[in-house]
Amino acid sequence: MKEETLVLIKPDAVGKSVIGKIIAIYEENGLSVRAAKMMRMTRELAAKHYEEHIGRPYYEELVEFMTGGPIIAMIISGEDAIKRVREINGKTNPKEAAEGTIRKLFAQDGSKNAVHASDSPESAKRERNIFFAEAEIF
Ligand code: CDP
Ligand code: MG
Repeated sequence: MKEETLVLIKPDAVGKSVIGKIIAIYEENGLSVRAAKMMRMTRELAAKHYEEHIGRPYYEELVEFMTGGPIIAMIISGEDAIKRVREINGKTNPKEAAEGTIRKLFAQDGSKNAVHASDSPESAKRERNIFFAEAEIF
């Protein structure tokens, strides 16, 4: 089924100048960019996006990290995009991520891990509306 998913290139990966390499990996896998913008997350935006993580022991560190530099927000589309993008990204902790995945290639640890992707159709819809207006999606 054709799907859309929300991807963030996190501040660590933007800082390493691997934006182009990361987007190329999605495109080489037959996926397409439908929306993209560079921006800086505010604490408010981080709290909305990471709603389910509020109160977890790593939450403060996560917000510091995500608001600490610019990110690239994107909507990526394609066949089974939600599951496939998470497979292409690899496991949360790069030590457990498979060879060739974005996190294996570019993440430094289980916090500064290069990319985010929605984990279900419900989160994809919710996260899309946090980052993009309809007119910004092509
Ligand atoms: O991003 P993903 O869906 O793979 O993982 P998550 O469990 O939904 O966690 C969201 C994000 O919180 C991770 O990608 C990490 O950046 C961060 N995190 C962390 O810093 N320490 C943890 N123990 C778990 C998550
Ligand atoms: Mg998640």
